[in-house]
Amino acid sequence: MKIMVTGGAGFIGSNFIHYILKKRPDWEVTNFDSLTYAGNLANLKDVENNPNYKFVKGDISDPDDVERLFSSEYDFLINFAAESHVDRSLYNPGLFLKTNILGTQLLLNYALEKGIKRFLHVSTDEVYGSLGPDGYFGESSPLAPNSPYAASKASADMICRSYYKTFDMPVIITRAGNNYGPYQFPEKLIPFFITRALKNEPLPLYGDGLNVRDWLYVEDHCDAIFTVLEKGNFGEIYNIGGGNEKTNLEITRLVLETLNKPESLIKYVKDRPGHDRRYALDINKINSELDWSPKMDFETGIQKTVGWYLENQKWWEDILSGEYTRFYELHYKERS
Ligand SMILES: NC(=O)c1ccc[n+]([C@@H]2O[C@H](COP(=O)([O-])OP(=O)(O)OC[C@H]3O[C@@H](n4cnc5c(N)ncnc54)[C@H](O)[C@@H]3O)[C@@H](O)[C@H]2O)c1
Repeated sequence: MKIMVTGGAGFIGSNFIHYILKKRPDWEVTNFDSLTYAGNLANLKDVENNPNYKFVKGDISDPDDVERLFSSEYDFLINFAAESHVDRSLYNPGLFLKTNILGTQLLLNYALEKGIKRFLHVSTDEVYGSLGPDGYFGESSPLAPNSPYAASKASADMICRSYYKTFDMPVIITRAGNNYGPYQFPEKLIPFFITRALKNEPLPLYGDGLNVRDWLYVEDHCDAIFTVLEKGNFGEIYNIGGGNEKTNLEITRLVLETLNKPESLIKYVKDRPGHDRRYALDINKINSELDWSPKMDFETGIQKTVGWYLENQKWWEDILSGEYTRFYELHYKERS
């Protein structure tokens, strides 16, 4: 089996490449990634010499790059490539629309022309918008995205749906909750706070810290994607949740406790505009139809994640410079 993984140098994509090369060692994996600030080939150092792994540099929204990519044949395509950080989407929404919408449409076009057997599009629970204190998002909940990032992902989902309906293309969509685990870029909440706590720097917590997310260990997400790839039905959407609803404040306290750091490091800052209050996913569909459920309990997942960042200090110290630092200073100066 030949598979194309787009965005494989990012957090979830690189975890998925590790996962799949173990799970299906005879599958040939091509990683297509433009290496934005979030793409890092160091995430894949240990597999770079695997004869079944290949990296191709290219942009999913560039027709020449995508045409070159599709000069080879693939059985399955899994589309992870995206601009993925909500905070950044406040400053440059156009880039999110270009990559996340037009890039996805370009991939769909070529994959359709080449007769791909499965096209799995990796989406997010953020497309559903914000929940009150009760209830869960099901796959047929209305789309109500609140950030440019979420709107671009919701639009891509609609384009994927249209290719299934109009062209009978074998498209499947997954929508996952907030991921955490190894190789996550240290601008996202959990690694952001781990790395800052390790440097004894303040942890800037938005608003009252009571926004709730449904946390999913990245290996569980990879396992769910593989399950959907093998057993999912075309034209369907599958929610993927970890069943771990936590407030940002609970997460922050747990990170500090695990690292034996004082709560005085918490610094409340002005809330993110349009900050969704709560996400929570109903995962009955993937559970009952495809027999998938998350395996990792949250406390163990956090221990493992903190352990990984402690052991891989050079990995994140290399990142915490240049472009990343400029973004951080711009964004948090406005909020402090
Ligand atoms: N991180 C989460 O909690 C989460 C939750 C649900 C869904 N998702 C979705 O999962 C996917 C992966 O998320 P992530 O957290 O690994 O993101 P990430 O930002 O860590 O990685 C994105 C990768 O895509 C690449 N990329 C960006 N633009 C590209 C382009 N134009 N062409 C080719 N490659 C490009 C980057 O170089 C990077 O390697 C995204 O589609 C995201 O929307 C993420």
